[in-house]
Amino acid sequence: MFMNLEGRIIVVTGGARGLGRAFAEACAREKAQSVIIADILDDAGAQTAGDLRLQGFDVHFMHYDQGDPESINAFAGMLAQKFDRIDGLVNNAAIATGIGGKTYEEIDIDTWDLVMRVNVRGVWLVIKALTPLLRKSALGGRIVNLASDTALWGAPRLLHYVGSKGAIMSMTRSLSREIGEYGITINAIAPGITIVEATEYVPQERHDLYVNGRPFHRRQMPDDVVGPVVHLLGSGAGFITGQVIPVNGGFVFN
Ligand SMILES: NC(=O)c1ccc[n+]([C@@H]2O[C@H](COP(=O)([O-])OP(=O)(O)OC[C@H]3O[C@@H](n4cnc5c(N)ncnc54)[C@H](O)[C@@H]3O)[C@@H](O)[C@H]2O)c1
Repeated sequence: MFMNLEGRIIVVTGGARGLGRAFAEACAREKAQSVIIADILDDAGAQTAGDLRLQGFDVHFMHYDQGDPESINAFAGMLAQKFDRIDGLVNNAAIATGIGGKTYEEIDIDTWDLVMRVNVRGVWLVIKALTPLLRKSALGGRIVNLASDTALWGAPRLLHYVGSKGAIMSMTRSLSREIGEYGITINAIAPGITIVEATEYVPQERHDLYVNGRPFHRRQMPDDVVGPVVHLLGSGAGFITGQVIPVNGGFVFN
């Protein structure tokens, strides 16, 4: 009973590729009733959902833009037309690539605003739009936010992103006190640098810093992160809320 996601309908934002795709696939394999991948990347999102359907899983793709409030609400409307409830939400979508390597003096205001709009405001709006469906869960609604351990150790030359992920940690704590009364848990996972498409551009020194600084001297892979996310979505995690859990091979502790 505690080991899988049987009977749960789970939304994974940013599930078209990278970590989100790994979460969507893991939810399907752990017997979720349905998985909805929501992303701005239509081709990749449809492809990921199609691949999983071919394996016999009930996986759907829905388009939305987390930077656009109307698009978020339209997505919530589409979801409500197809499903009478949802049981889990993985807030994974974020601008997580192509923005590193600039000092706090070099980052431009437009990029700063875009990162905050998508990574912070967008997560708030997705939660706001989807909690009515989560409140209908008979199993107990679950929200898992993707933070980042960069916000725990203070990674340099990435201030907008690090600030956005620090905000996710604070929002997770604060929201747990607001939505607990609906039986919804909310937690954040803070991964270390994980090998996906988005981290290919990261300079080798940054990868080496992590590998050398971990008690396990190896690279982190998406499979290292899926277990804790699936656990937090399931029945066995009903008394965990407001927590920020680093999943980073021990690079930094919380
Ligand atoms: N990979 C890592 O090393 C790492 C480490 C710590 C935290 N994270 C976090 O994990 C999550 C996934 O990151 P990833 O590494 O797989 O990167 P990624 O860029 O592959 O994934 C992000 C996903 O979000 C989607 N997205 C971006 N902007 C969007 C928008 N406006 N509307 C809808 N969808 C949008 C992208 O299309 C993509 O599918 C992010 O929240 C990231 O900050 C990643």
